[in-house]
Amino acid sequence: MPETKIIQAADDDMQDAVREACALLRAGEIVALPTETVYGLAAAAFDPAAVAKVFAAKERPSFDPLIVHIAARGDLKNVAIVPPDIAETVSKLTAAFWPGPLTLILPKHPAIPDIVTSGLPTVAVRQSAHPVFRAVNKEFGGPLAAPSANRFGRISPTSASAVVKELDGRIPLIIDAGACAEGLESTIIAIEARAGKKPLFRLHRAGPVTKEQLQEFGRVEKARDVAGELPQAPGQLPSHYAPRTPLFLLESPDSFHPEPGKKYGLLSYRGEDDSPYVGLHEWARVEVLSPGSGKLAEAAIRLFFVLRLLDEAGLDAIIAEPVSETGLGVAIMDRLRRAATKG
Ligand code: TXA
Ligand code: MG
Repeated sequence: MPETKIIQAADDDMQDAVREACALLRAGEIVALPTETVYGLAAAAFDPAAVAKVFAAKERPSFDPLIVHIAARGDLKNVAIVPPDIAETVSKLTAAFWPGPLTLILPKHPAIPDIVTSGLPTVAVRQSAHPVFRAVNKEFGGPLAAPSANRFGRISPTSASAVVKELDGRIPLIIDAGACAEGLESTIIAIEARAGKKPLFRLHRAGPVTKEQLQEFGRVEKARDVAGELPQAPGQLPSHYAPRTPLFLLESPDSFHPEPGKKYGLLSYRGEDDSPYVGLHEWARVEVLSPGSGKLAEAAIRLFFVLRLLDEAGLDAIIAEPVSETGLGVAIMDRLRRAATKG
């Protein structure tokens, strides 16, 4: 693999980036692109050989299906077959949240190769709101399969430099459009019709579109994996988004028992202002999720960035403070629990 090239793209100056990305995608190559959630590693969704390169570059197991991204709502019919009993709900949800960070699991269209869906009869679909991703998707003229642009199980990249750390030398091109606006991967739901009642949404992954927002359209329940079956969303595997440094989520300050001589770093939600954790210990490093007034939204944007900083700080362990589990806090706590060291 030749060197990984990086091209800058701004909202008003992205022509070269879009052209080069599309030329590579048409040649069956893979390209890292910014989305509003995290950076994605894109391939032509109808090209199984190109999609295989995504799995190889990420060292992703073949049982973990990819999300298909479409350029326009009208393209949904090319990748999925929407059952009549949920068609109205799908229209309402896509009108409300697309383009944006909501992924729908729907019966797959036969044109989608099995490698994309890991052999599942369903496909995960969304329309990205990022201007650069949208421009590439539109100019390419077909659906793009794109997982997050990190090696399997690692922290998702929210900047081009994070993609470089994950995939340098493994992919030909990264389009750099700065930091991602949401910072957490899309919310994933499956939809079930219920006679005479509002539809049921099975939440496969918490994300920027919150339970509170979805409740306007239906009842939200957590998706549960059936024992003995393949995980329905391996992003929901208990260990994921993990730093190399052991991370412990401390549900209460009095459960911290430091070992002498070890270097601990603190991942704090609000920092000094209102954290009972900051004064607990002489931390080797403190990083704050929401140093400004943004609170949960700011914390979501910064979570993966700050996890990377702490992972690169030469610590023996990272101690993470919990955030309140409302709104975006549900997705943040989900990622922290999966990043935490097990056992
Ligand atoms: O925000 C996002 O969704 C980002 C950007 C790049 O769009 N993509 C992303 O992709 O997070 P990835 O591959 O890292 O996570 C996709 C998740 C995985 O957990 C996968 O198992 C699940 O979606 N998934 C894909 N197809 C599925 C299906 N048919 N049924 C259930 N889960 C599915
Ligand atoms: Mg991922």
